[in-house]
Amino acid sequence: MVTPAQVVDAYGRRFTYLRVSVTDVCNLRCVYCMPEEGVAWLPKDEILSYEEITTVVEAAAAVGVYKVRLTGGEPLARREIATLAGMIARVPGITDLALTTNGLLLGKYAADLKAAGLKRINISLDTLNPEKFIQIARRGRLEDVLEGIAAAQAAGLAPIKLNMVVLGGLNDDEVESFAAMTLERPLDMRFIEYMPLQEAKDCALGSGSFGFVPNTVTKERLTRRFGTLDPLEVGNSMRGPAEVWRIPGAAGRLGFISAMSAPFCAKCDRLRLTANGELRSCLLDGGGVEVKSLLRGGGSTADLVNAFRQAAALKPELHKVWHEIPASAMSRIGG
Ligand code: 5AD
Ligand code: SF4
Repeated sequence: MVTPAQVVDAYGRRFTYLRVSVTDVCNLRCVYCMPEEGVAWLPKDEILSYEEITTVVEAAAAVGVYKVRLTGGEPLARREIATLAGMIARVPGITDLALTTNGLLLGKYAADLKAAGLKRINISLDTLNPEKFIQIARRGRLEDVLEGIAAAQAAGLAPIKLNMVVLGGLNDDEVESFAAMTLERPLDMRFIEYMPLQEAKDCALGSGSFGFVPNTVTKERLTRRFGTLDPLEVGNSMRGPAEVWRIPGAAGRLGFISAMSAPFCAKCDRLRLTANGELRSCLLDGGGVEVKSLLRGGGSTADLVNAFRQAAALKPELHKVWHEIPASAMSRIGG
């Protein structure tokens, strides 16, 4: 049911989900996201404080948002992230708090995050091979991510979703191994189509190292190996951007996120807050509304609620061509 306070746009999309990028900084340099030297980080004084972020979340709750996801850059790279998780978990109306991480620091923080009120976690993992890990993420250690996953499980964060960006010629030979992880463990594996953003595309082409693999191909591959998959959330029963299937008898599930081959804009229920205080209508298109000056200039909750309405109105019906969009957008706006 839509209550009057809720934000609904001209295309009937209702906004119940806010993704909050808490920092643009990251401790990895994944080939599909950033150039090796990194991107120019935002000046520290432009980054919203935890109090400012919480104020925005309170306004979001007032317009019907109940689900918040913390993203980055790498959210665990920001100091005392569990403190922010606790502040958001206490906002009335926010019933679902999640986080997306590369897992490197999760061994250290999983228990604190759970205690603070975090419910669910997505961990990015593109390979199970330590050398490939360095090729794709350019830094860090696979072992730390695996430890992080174990710590998240031990802390009782559930469900755990693993996000794999499928990169042709680089890790696409591992999709079966990843899928096999769901046989015995209650993991949600998610296969994500690579989005060729501007610089990422230049890097990819420059090194000639990977290409686009549509999820139809990945799914066919898995069907060949594991037999016909059981549909769980497909077509009209999809609850988010992922189509969800299961290997018959498996403990976990397989999700396919196909932003390129099957854009899900028509059902998109999300708005985004960037680390430097812009309310974005879409990951990569449509523009946004600056709220940092409202927060720092004594704006009221009513002003913030209004900013939500403006941001929703800017949301494009369908996002534009991806390669026109700078890759730095991903780590700034939060994937
Ligand atoms: N294509 C697809 N997904 C991307 N991500 C970042 N850059 C890209 C890209 N170019 C997503 C991945 C990663 C998360 C942090 O952001 O899912 O796991
Ligand atoms: Fe960091 Fe995530 Fe980008 Fe990798 S994809 S460089 S982990 S922000």
